[in-house]
Amino acid sequence: MAAPGERAARVNYHDGPMDRYAVVGHPVSHSLSPRIHALFARATGEALEYATLEAPLDGFAAAMRAFFAGGARGANVTLPFKVEALSFAHSASERARVAGAANFLAARGGRIEADNTDGAGLVADLERNAGFAIRGRRILILGAGGAARGVIAPLLACAPAALVVANRTTARARELEARFRSLGPVRGADLASIPREGFELVLNATSSSVHGDRLELPRAALAQGALAYDMAYGKSAQAFVAAARAAGFRACDGLGMLVEQAAESFELWRGTRPATAPVLEELAALRA
Ligand code: ATR
Repeated sequence: MAAPGERAARVNYHDGPMDRYAVVGHPVSHSLSPRIHALFARATGEALEYATLEAPLDGFAAAMRAFFAGGARGANVTLPFKVEALSFAHSASERARVAGAANFLAARGGRIEADNTDGAGLVADLERNAGFAIRGRRILILGAGGAARGVIAPLLACAPAALVVANRTTARARELEARFRSLGPVRGADLASIPREGFELVLNATSSSVHGDRLELPRAALAQGALAYDMAYGKSAQAFVAAARAAGFRACDGLGMLVEQAAESFELWRGTRPATAPVLEELAALRA
């Protein structure tokens, strides 16, 4: 039974009922996740349907209760519900608890389990698709909100030489420094005075584009040949990616991160890991 707001997309033809999943957000109709999971399902022969579910801003828990009461097996959670998803679940993985947010829910034995696959998705995209080995490198994160918090621990686990979190509100960056410093060399900084340390990777984890604001690329803080990476994808990432390319840096948006976190989610639900390269190719061709 579909929950209110659920728009089903049958992604694989099989007789009988199929396991149901959805991406839950507000707004969510633009999400590429149903298409990505449809491609994974086809490639692995898994029988499932994956829909979008737009929950009311004040109705995430009720929407999830209805969704799972109807027999659904799992959900990906996107903005603005990732923090709420963590408290909604009966239990959570360590990486979700460390991130303070969940983008993954699974129904198992009558209980809802939460996880966070965003950080693993970013690391996989950087290392496998972008050819950027994190170990020993100097990394700069712009922004200190939920998007930044979710990826700091997985990045530190890859042993970078330095990880500086620069934020407009410096206190939030310092809070993240305090929260994560036991895990590695993380420091908070002011966005207006980023230390010029020759960063080899700059990650845009701000929501500036969502507000229609322009984010200055901190050119002077970057090493020659640095990679500029926007964790958003599509239109939201365009200005940052274009500015970085115009300044002579390598740049990409977060489409690869989206596909890699989806693969991680798919494997957790289905026990089989889909190949991501063909899906990335297909999505890249669509927007070319
Ligand atoms: P999210 O969960 O998407 O990270 P968030 O928790 O609201 O959302 O955090 C948004 C981040 O983008 C914050 O780091 C915010 O900076 P402040 O903490 O100073 O608010 C940052 N941000 C948003 N708009 C920005 C802008 N125009 N310039 C610089 N940083 C911006």
